[in-house]
Amino acid sequence: MALPSEGPLNGLSAVVTGAGRGLGRAEALELARLGAAVVVNDFGQSGRDGSGEACAAPAEEVAAEIRALGGRAVAHTGDVADFRQAKELIAAAIDEFGRLDVLVNNAGILRDRMVFSMTEDEWDSVIRVHLKGHFNTTHFAAAHWRERSKAAGGEQVYGRIVNTSSEAFLAGSAGQPNYAAAKGGIVGLTTSTALALAKYGVTANAICPRARTRMTEDVFAGFQLPDEGLDPLAPEHVAPLVGYLAAPAAAGINGQLLVVHGGMVAIVERPRVQAKFDSKQETFTYDELDALLTPHYADRPPGETFAAADVLGLKRG
Ligand SMILES: NC(=O)c1ccc[n+]([C@@H]2O[C@H](COP(=O)([O-])OP(=O)(O)OC[C@H]3O[C@@H](n4cnc5c(N)ncnc54)[C@H](O)[C@@H]3O)[C@@H](O)[C@H]2O)c1
Repeated sequence: MALPSEGPLNGLSAVVTGAGRGLGRAEALELARLGAAVVVNDFGQSGRDGSGEACAAPAEEVAAEIRALGGRAVAHTGDVADFRQAKELIAAAIDEFGRLDVLVNNAGILRDRMVFSMTEDEWDSVIRVHLKGHFNTTHFAAAHWRERSKAAGGEQVYGRIVNTSSEAFLAGSAGQPNYAAAKGGIVGLTTSTALALAKYGVTANAICPRARTRMTEDVFAGFQLPDEGLDPLAPEHVAPLVGYLAAPAAAGINGQLLVVHGGMVAIVERPRVQAKFDSKQETFTYDELDALLTPHYADRPPGETFAAADVLGLKRG
């Protein structure tokens, strides 16, 4: 399959983190298919928990795959959670392709454990790769776009950020306190970034993908591959939405959260205030709160929390 010569991302350059495997690989290929020149980043460790030596092969193989299809791609094999290496990653796109237009933050690891058993290192490493990793690249990309806008006398530039959250944040995930917290943090980072960069012409959105990758191979082991057609859990179902959000057509979409898998996209509504109570005095007392909140929660099913468990039931159909 050769890449088409014209596409909505023609002339644009993109960075995709963690693109040596899984979802990031599918997203990098899709951005290239739509016409973007791509920096394929991956630190390349062998363990999905971030264990093992750094390895250049995953990023280099995907970059070579894109070039073999007729696209433009280079590999970057750094750690996105390292501030200096993230700076080099954004600089690599600017050096290689003249500027950066699209940043897809996707790199991630898993270290699952119940909150009462989790070690400090399991907590820190997952927060570091996901949340700090997203911040690091966003910081340097945002500085680049602000500089370009200033140099153009305050004109808007082209910038797109697609971040990767998870249903583990939205729906809650008892065995993943570190991961759910990092993914919730990424949604906060996304809305903050969306507000801060809108005036420069830059959008930031987040997706909650679902796909069969090495990260989820045991979770989805029970879901058999169909005899024919695309696996409903293939990462290729997620990539088109990332390509679309990166494109000029998505200019009006900013600060949004979308669930995507298996030929389905669901737009998540923002949290809304469900009930409001005002103190009859200057401020609340214990007794007043007890009188208002205890009956309010009395009939609520005990398992019902802020978590949006119903998103787990979304499927095509
Ligand atoms: N697979 C799913 O169902 C699912 C669901 C929700 C969210 N996600 C998220 O999607 C993203 C991609 O996950 P995946 O399922 O493709 O997993 P994956 O393990 O197949 O791919 C993740 C890639 O990130 C790379 N990576 C890890 N740490 C890195 C670092 N510090 N710097 C650079 N690269 C690094 C890994 O080497 C790997 O190639 C992750 O953020 C994950 O949390 C996945």
